[in-house]
Amino acid sequence: MTGPTPRTAKPGVDPHPGTPASTRTWLARWLETNAELTRLQQGNPMLDAIVDEQDGRRIRIGDHWLADFASCNYLGFDLDPEIVAAVPRYLARWGTHPSWSRMLASPVLNERIDAELAALLGAEDVLTLPTITHISSSVLPALADQGTVYLDARSHKTIWDGCQIARGHGATVRRFGHDDPAQLEALLRAGGTEPRVVCIDGINSMTGNPPPLREYLRLAREYEALLYVDDGHGFGVVGERALDEPCPYGRHGNGVVRHLGESYDHVVLVGGFSKAYSSLLAFVACPTRLKELLKVAAPPYLYSGPSPIASLATVLEGFRVNAERGDELRARLWDHTRRVLDTLNELGAWTPNASGFPIVQVPLADPGDLDPAGAFLFEQGVYTTLAFYPGVPRGEVGFRLQLTAANTDQQVDLLTDVLRDLAARFPLRPADGPRTLVLP
Ligand SMILES: Cc1ncc(COP(=O)(O)O)c(C=O)c1O
Repeated sequence: MTGPTPRTAKPGVDPHPGTPASTRTWLARWLETNAELTRLQQGNPMLDAIVDEQDGRRIRIGDHWLADFASCNYLGFDLDPEIVAAVPRYLARWGTHPSWSRMLASPVLNERIDAELAALLGAEDVLTLPTITHISSSVLPALADQGTVYLDARSHKTIWDGCQIARGHGATVRRFGHDDPAQLEALLRAGGTEPRVVCIDGINSMTGNPPPLREYLRLAREYEALLYVDDGHGFGVVGERALDEPCPYGRHGNGVVRHLGESYDHVVLVGGFSKAYSSLLAFVACPTRLKELLKVAAPPYLYSGPSPIASLATVLEGFRVNAERGDELRARLWDHTRRVLDTLNELGAWTPNASGFPIVQVPLADPGDLDPAGAFLFEQGVYTTLAFYPGVPRGEVGFRLQLTAANTDQQVDLLTDVLRDLAARFPLRPADGPRTLVLP
């Protein structure tokens, strides 16, 4: 069995000849910060792979078949036969791509998406752009203006980048500790120019845990700040709680705000379809007045290309399948996740996941084992996301598993067996005690 050919680093070779000295300083600093990623990218089969073939949630890299636990297609819509079969009808009617700037014109499909999405979320209105990255780089600075942005230290990188842009436009950025409303309150109390925007992740992309939303909302309302919540992962998976819910993710997958029983007062909820819905579109849930303002204030609405028709089609068909069998798929997802968490419990291994969300980060006892542990997982036929520094704190270096409804029970059997074998060779970071899920 062979994996992909390892790329080899070329020490001593200037990776960016001809660039000005000032750029080289910045690049050198960036590459040094990301030295771990550079090293892994150049040699570990678990990164930057080319997938030659796919069969359900199995992938072939070179001549090596692996069960895929790195996909964020949580609901399995990428492989859903009904959704796949529906796309050609949209293409026949609309072509492959609108290619108008959204400000010029949009197919009526966009209007249908806005209406269905606002109803699903229970929000007044939504504005859609192709990605969350577009939204955080444009909507966030527009909301912040020359005021103050308060940034949770473990917010997603795209939020950090949005804050940098906001800073470039004259905003002040203040950082507070992850999930630390007390520290945020101290900063808010100390003052800061208005408008004020507090930025947090919804379901955190590495820990899988929800934020202390109620406390943040209390502060936002008390200090007249807007709470900007990036729920890229939670949307489609967690939703409103109900007595008849088939699993603790709740029903309908309508996002972290509904899941935690809160309203959208003082909230700008951002979410995307590129994970649970397997499509390329993202949204800002906000009042219609703000939506109309953002169409002008957020540059991508005028200056960027729109989402392709196939993406609009998979969003609309995704809504239909979500309404018909989404809760069933989420129950299956919960079941897969629970089995993995039970295995980690049995191994006495620590994971930051206290929510049961299908992102399970598994830190190694020795961060130095990351390279061989990744190679071992690959050899055993399990594809995961490597969690390297500085993407995670040093104490959390290891790997991140994602479960999807399209993973088979046999693939989860393989994963749990491989986790046991892995733990025998490369010790996992030990748990302090038995882990209990703190479901909201
Ligand atoms: C929390 C979070 N926000 C934003 C993004 C980027 O989303 P998009 O691909 O829509 O730009 C990701 C992607 O991984 C994410 O995890």
